[in-house]
Amino acid sequence: MKQMNFFWKVLLISTLGLWSGFATAGVVASKHDLTASGGGQATTTVTDEVCVFCHTPHGSDTAAPVPLWNKVLGAPGSYTQYSTLQTPTFDSTEAPVGSVSLACLSCHDGTQAMDVVINLPGAGGYNPAGQEIDATGIGQMVGSPVPMLGTDLTDDHPISMQYGGGGASAADPDGTFAGTLGDPDFNAPEKATVNGNPIWWVDSPVGTAATREKTDMILYARNDLGTVQPFVECGSCHDPHNDQTQGQTSVQFLRINNTASQICTACHVK
Ligand code: HEC
Ligand code: HEC
Ligand code: HEC
Ligand code: HEC
Repeated sequence: MKQMNFFWKVLLISTLGLWSGFATAGVVASKHDLTASGGGQATTTVTDEVCVFCHTPHGSDTAAPVPLWNKVLGAPGSYTQYSTLQTPTFDSTEAPVGSVSLACLSCHDGTQAMDVVINLPGAGGYNPAGQEIDATGIGQMVGSPVPMLGTDLTDDHPISMQYGGGGASAADPDGTFAGTLGDPDFNAPEKATVNGNPIWWVDSPVGTAATREKTDMILYARNDLGTVQPFVECGSCHDPHNDQTQGQTSVQFLRINNTASQICTACHVK
């Protein structure tokens, strides 16, 4: 009877453990949690606010269109982009590194400490030049070529470039892609309008078709090439808040898991 009790206790505890595991799926306790509960390469006990390393409710940097961004962004011109590799098949036009990619690289290029923020946790800590939350506890990201990508991006999947291999054709100037893509080796994206602005995404096999969801490959509207066009950025493949995509662990903040390379084939017809 005593043994039975022990058995049921173990079962109960492990079931609770499983539930709490699901409850923490997200940014808290992930590698993007830089507080003591986090799982990345650098953590601090100075604050237990998880979001402050990336977001601030007031006084954010709007140089890149990333919601309420709390970090000092790098100079777009400081990166070596994929096209300089001159692969014979690359035909998308690149813009300078920007959009959400610039936000990711504010930690992932390894050039500044990961806790440099514009608005410190608590009152009175606003400084647009940036200051460290914990000058002794957290430094720059280490480990090249990943997770620290560096400023030479030629060994990474291209970013900050038009979707569709040459983008919208001349007959399709607003990029609705009603006609053919610049390169037929890509799946046509979806387009909708929110607040008068175009939004684009590529439907993934997960979720509802023709509805933009975080499990789709998100394309980012940029106006760098004369017209507003859909661009591929780090956030096209990654969701920085979700380290347990579809209930699986260790899927590296991907929008969907990459079973049978379904991330790649969402965009590439291969
Ligand atoms: C490691 C950096 C990082 C941390 C930590 C982080 N975020 Fe974000 N968050 C981002 C980035 C980057 C984007 C922009 C994503 C995009 O444009 O696709 C974003 C976008 C968002 C958005 C708008 C888009 C969406 O997914 O709904 C919300 C809301 C948000 N974050 C809330 C939070 C909250 C709340 C926390 C803390 C619990 C948090 N974030 C922690 C990086 C972070
Ligand atoms: C505040 C700094 C910070 C920002 C901003 C940030 N990251 Fe990270 N990221 C980290 C840290 C720290 C790790 C953990 C590195 C390690 O220990 O391996 C990490 C790890 C990752 C990993 C690997 C996770 C794994 O399971 O191995 C991916 C993928 C990633 N980040 C993508 C992104 C993307 C995409 C963005 C922008 C949307 C972003 N990160 C923005 C700090 C950041
Ligand atoms: C076209 C899709 C795509 C884009 C764009 C992309 N990634 Fe990734 N990334 C992936 C996939 C898929 C993996 C998982 C690779 C694996 O399982 O080994 C990954 C893995 C990573 C990792 C973890 C690598 C490791 O082995 O520890 C980091 C960090 C990362 N990405 C950061 C970024 C950042 C920062 C950007 C933008 C500069 C970016 N990614 C753009 C698809 C992408
Ligand atoms: C969000 C859409 C998207 C996703 C997801 C995606 N790609 Fe791409 N990829 C592109 C675009 C757009 C280009 C630029 C191609 C061009 O213009 O020729 C590209 C370029 C490439 C190139 C370089 C082509 C060249 O000619 O130099 C390779 C290789 C590649 N992708 C492989 C992958 C792999 C492997 C995956 C999955 C891990 C993946 N891609 C996921 C959109 C995507």
